[in-house]
Amino acid sequence: ATLRKVEEWLQPFRLPKEKLREVSARLRKDLIRGLGKHTHHRAPVKMLPTFVRATPDGTEKGDFLALDLGGTNFRVLHVRVVEEQQKMVKMDSKICAIPQEIMLGPGEQLFDHIAACLSEFLESLGLKGHTLPLGFTFSFPCEQIDIDKCILIRWTKGFNCSGVEGEDVVKLCPVCHSVLPMAIHRRGDYDISSVAMLNDTVGTMMTCGYRDKSCEIGMIIGTGTNACYMEEMKNVKRVEGEDGRMCINTEWGGFGDDGSLKDILTEFDVEVDRSSLNPGVHTFEKMISGMYLGEIVRLILVKLAQEKMLFGGEVSEALLTPDKFETRYISEIEDDATGLARAQDILSELELPAGPEDCAVVHLVCSTISTRSAELTAAALATVVNRIRNNRGLNHLCTTVGVDGTVYKKHPKFSHRLHDTVHILAPKCDISFLLSEDGSGKGAAMVTAVAQRLAMQSR
Ligand code: BG6
Ligand code: GLC
Repeated sequence: ATLRKVEEWLQPFRLPKEKLREVSARLRKDLIRGLGKHTHHRAPVKMLPTFVRATPDGTEKGDFLALDLGGTNFRVLHVRVVEEQQKMVKMDSKICAIPQEIMLGPGEQLFDHIAACLSEFLESLGLKGHTLPLGFTFSFPCEQIDIDKCILIRWTKGFNCSGVEGEDVVKLCPVCHSVLPMAIHRRGDYDISSVAMLNDTVGTMMTCGYRDKSCEIGMIIGTGTNACYMEEMKNVKRVEGEDGRMCINTEWGGFGDDGSLKDILTEFDVEVDRSSLNPGVHTFEKMISGMYLGEIVRLILVKLAQEKMLFGGEVSEALLTPDKFETRYISEIEDDATGLARAQDILSELELPAGPEDCAVVHLVCSTISTRSAELTAAALATVVNRIRNNRGLNHLCTTVGVDGTVYKKHPKFSHRLHDTVHILAPKCDISFLLSEDGSGKGAAMVTAVAQRLAMQSR
């Protein structure tokens, strides 16, 4: 009986297909606003030009350093793109922890920390003193003026370092300085910048694009959520030129920041936003990504307990503690084989008196919240693929999406729900999903390599 009551109570989190279609149509308008020369300033979906004009063609090669900042892990990498035909990429990498006080401290300290990690890594590889071109995956919204000029619009997710917003990250980053003056003369007489700044969506698209040439969308559902895609240059009004394409970083996490998603926000979404590091910002992201899903579930569990539909009306200290219900618990509880036993363990770790019915209710809450996340992501992705199809005047589009992020990769049902829903919302698009295997590091090297190839070809 309780289960049925909870089921009803959770109704506001269930979005009918018609509603998802509406959401997709609203995002469609926002993409256009974000691209417009005179409308982009106030647009919630920023549609940022990336200055990446092509995906890999397989002839790229060289040695690169890469930094990957903004997901669960900060990584430094040495990437070697080996042979033209064999499509070989070799990598060494190292994960460096970033303590929370650095994530929230002065920007200078963050960049010094990054430089120290890289320096240690290069030492361990015997590469100290060598200068190599650098690809820096910096997974935050940035206004780029070129591939090597990257002004942070604002921090998102768990970062909030002072003195960086509004500044050029390349100028603040000592690692970038150390490679910037270097001109690259390895193949003939050309000379281009040796730093490439990119978003993680772009790194993901480029990594997957090396394996599959039809990959022209990159999507992340991890700590945050976002996507990029190849847009026609003639629609990118903020950058000169009409020919060819450019990759646009949508920053779809900001969808809804002007109030356009009010009708689907619940009191729990409002509370998650209020207690976040960046209230009022990245509304869509807060309904979807890993940094927030566990917290939504926790707030719902508290409310259900208070309304005597759970844990015999009891709440524990742990359950009342922000972020105590981790997003990975949702993935574990929704596992068909081991989920119920795991639910029992998690609830007892949280000092909650949980019988079988409580576990069933918690499972229902988890699956409702993760399903909403997957379906909203599908609505957004449907908007992007439909746009590409319309751009090209095609009746039918066949395309590949490169994907990364712990929610997509670790949740047992997320990807199926996303695929099924996007298929319904974009019936004229045939979409393949390709998992990015080595993260954005390889993509960072690829962006640098493609930029070099294009520079060579234009001479
Ligand atoms: C990684 C990429 O694998 O996935 C990062 O290398 C990206 O660039 C990350 O930010 C996203 O996933 P998560 O779950 O770590 O935020
Ligand atoms: C946040 C960032 C965005 C990034 C995404 C996924 O939304 O603003 O730049 O791509 O998280 O990591």
